[in-house]
Amino acid sequence: MDPLPIPRDFPLPLPASPVDLQLAIVLLFLAHILFVNLMLGGTLLCLYYELRGLRRPELDRLAHAIAGTVTVTKSLAVVLGVGPLLVMNALYALWFYTANSLTGRAWIMIVPLVILAFGFLYAHKYSWQALAERKGLHLALGAAGALLLLALPLVFLANINLMLFPDRWLAVRGFLSALLLPNVLPRYLHFLLASVAVTALALAGWLCRRSLRPESELAGLDRAEVRRELLAAAFGATVLQAVAGPLVLMTLPPHGLSWPLLGYLILAVALAAAAAVLLWRELHGRGPLSPRYWAVVLALGCTVGLMGFVRHLYREQAVSTHRALVAAHSESFRAAALGAAMRLEAGVPRQGGAEATTSPGERSFRAVCMACHAAEERRVGPPLTEIARLYAGNPEGLIAWVKAPGRKRPDYPQMPPIAMQEGQYRAVAEYILDEVFAAAAAPPAAAG
Ligand code: HEC
Repeated sequence: MDPLPIPRDFPLPLPASPVDLQLAIVLLFLAHILFVNLMLGGTLLCLYYELRGLRRPELDRLAHAIAGTVTVTKSLAVVLGVGPLLVMNALYALWFYTANSLTGRAWIMIVPLVILAFGFLYAHKYSWQALAERKGLHLALGAAGALLLLALPLVFLANINLMLFPDRWLAVRGFLSALLLPNVLPRYLHFLLASVAVTALALAGWLCRRSLRPESELAGLDRAEVRRELLAAAFGATVLQAVAGPLVLMTLPPHGLSWPLLGYLILAVALAAAAAVLLWRELHGRGPLSPRYWAVVLALGCTVGLMGFVRHLYREQAVSTHRALVAAHSESFRAAALGAAMRLEAGVPRQGGAEATTSPGERSFRAVCMACHAAEERRVGPPLTEIARLYAGNPEGLIAWVKAPGRKRPDYPQMPPIAMQEGQYRAVAEYILDEVFAAAAAPPAAAG
């Protein structure tokens, strides 16, 4: 495994309180992703019904009605995307920025590709009548827009995922290799299904609303059929999440999981299951939508809200260990810089002293382990006194742990595997066991 890169953080305070920012990122993201779902789901459903409309003109009218919503939802999706992006940059600057840099070219290509996608979607919408006799060309316009919209979330997902895997940063070579992180494709599937479910549900409410004026062009649609089609699509996509959801959970790096998080997740899934049952019954109803429809919307809305919250909890937990390392690294750098400045001011000449008087084991310890381990008190990891007692006379055991740490103490996070040169492992082990804590490492009998 590649070593864990530990950059220094920016020496700047957050622009607002962390709680406000965390609330903002959850809410702004939910608003954004709702319209992204509607845009993508609308594009896909529109294409699907236009294809089937080749044989059944009433489905072509449905497709046209959907095309009318897509250009609206896409504008909102883009505008609402600015919020989470800004907060993301405040809260996770280092992680998000690193992920963006690592997929640099694909990341920046988002801008021209989005413009191109929207161009196709507008052309598709406004040429419906003009290309009525050339359906192949018209469908190609819609398909080009849809394909671009399908490709773009992969870039976002790759980046959002890469943030959570600092141990992969040195191995990732651009967007395609970031795509291969275990969690990206399951998340993509989860997102696509959510897009279809959310959109079909919203369109059913919109196109079958009671207040639809008779003179509206939508009035020409066969409402019973529209209702059946859309509710069935929403139901199918929701049920398929029973496959996609567990895939996402199983491929997430486990260090971000916790019991409270799983509790919220179970609640969210239970609500979604209840929504699916109600949806099934509503699907077989007749006439206008019943109040049951609103119960489905409410239950799924709560599911989405909870999922957004869980997503945030997961990320906070997943980056916490690395964040502690970064903070410690930044702090020691700041102290060293301050010391150097003071020495300079006092006219003390620079000396290779520190390098010369410390052992290689101590230097490696300071550079790598000290971020998480202190001599006597608990930091991210347990104190050295405890470690020295555990591994007295057993440097091999200590080295084996450092290379592949287990999961031992329930009240500590997991220690990441540490990649060093072979000689460094031994030097660090000897430093901990012999040099500093020989006394603590002595067997209790001798100590008494
Ligand atoms: C990112 C923080 C972090 C870094 C860096 C780190 N550790 Fe740890 N270490 C931990 C945590 C957390 C635990 C407790 C894990 C547990 O009990 O599940 C731990 C536990 C240990 C243990 C106890 C093992 C046992 O059997 O109980 C040893 C030994 C250890 N670390 C050695 C090292 C050495 C040596 C280094 C430097 C090469 C190092 N650690 C760097 C976080 C870290």
